[in-house]
Amino acid sequence: MNILAIETSCDETAVALVRAAGGLKNPRFQILADFVSSQIAVHRPFGGVVPNLAKREHAKNLPVLLKKILRTDSRIPNSADLIAVTVSPGLEPALWTGIEFAKSLFKNWRSKNPGIKLAGASHIEGHLYSNFLDGRFAPVFPNVSLVASGGHTTLLLMKNLTEMKKIGETRDDAAGEAFDKVARLLGLPYPGGPEIAKIAEKGNPEAVAFPRPMLDQKNYDFSFSGLKTAVLYRLRDNAAQINEQLKADVAASFQKAAVDVLVVKTIRAAKEFGAKTVTLSGGVAANKLLRDTLKKTVKKELPACRFHVPPLKYCTDNAAMIAAAAYFDFLRGKKRRLTASSTASF
Ligand code: KG4
Ligand code: ZN
Repeated sequence: MNILAIETSCDETAVALVRAAGGLKNPRFQILADFVSSQIAVHRPFGGVVPNLAKREHAKNLPVLLKKILRTDSRIPNSADLIAVTVSPGLEPALWTGIEFAKSLFKNWRSKNPGIKLAGASHIEGHLYSNFLDGRFAPVFPNVSLVASGGHTTLLLMKNLTEMKKIGETRDDAAGEAFDKVARLLGLPYPGGPEIAKIAEKGNPEAVAFPRPMLDQKNYDFSFSGLKTAVLYRLRDNAAQINEQLKADVAASFQKAAVDVLVVKTIRAAKEFGAKTVTLSGGVAANKLLRDTLKKTVKKELPACRFHVPPLKYCTDNAAMIAAAAYFDFLRGKKRRLTASSTASF
């Protein structure tokens, strides 16, 4: 199945061409072309994503990326089996740009390619299934999957390839959002995750004993806003002494606290549900401390369990993962309305 996938849920415009095969028995993805156009420079002066600017940039970037795709394979309007587009969750004005673009492509291509289909896809499931993109994940169930991005922090339990249940989520800020907000407090540019990770390398993770919110509660939910507020107070109380070392110490201590909570809750869920595989994905999965700590902890505490995290470029937003999510929707006969929504449905 040749899938042209479009992703515009936030601040990355992405288009990919993916060949999916193997069905539920042996799902495989060959990424034929994969383009991402980042809007970071546009949003950076505002310290975060501005929805209407995102919409304008998506409208500008989509035709450019499509041209690049057509340059890699000019036959795709005739040979594509499916156009897949993210419909939720995300910023609605941004999502609509992708949906309208996909609809008009579908209309144009259908005259020469009557078998082509158009389908909506879930961004969170895209992150979840991004684990398949490097061809190195052997799906053994049950699987516990942590999806941590700028908009979501969700723990999913998968019984098989298509049946998933949300077992936990953040009650306030998403993990990536907490990184972004703490970065802003430290005077670092957007997006904050990579900036915090960078300055944390020079800091002491034990310097400040930040709280580990909800760690002792017997559920799989997260909360990051208290941790962010603790950083705010720490900086305010030490305003006279703020220098590069103090900032690095705060960044390292915050990163350690956030990673601790994510790892402990994921491991607890994996134990409770007898997970045979643990997966990690979403933009925050690009964080080296999180990748390394979760991998090490799975190995130590669940020796029979396998761990997988996608390569860095498939952790942050991309369209190849949307093709994968659309393929699994197709395999289980799931249809989504072509309507933008800010909330996720499972
Ligand atoms: O999945 P993603 O690209 O977009 C959303 O779906 O939100 O995730 C973006 C988020 C941002 O909050 C960004 O700061 C965070 O992922 N992020 C990181 C790192 N790289 C990106 N957070 C921590 N450490 C990183 N290295
Ligand atoms: Zn994302």
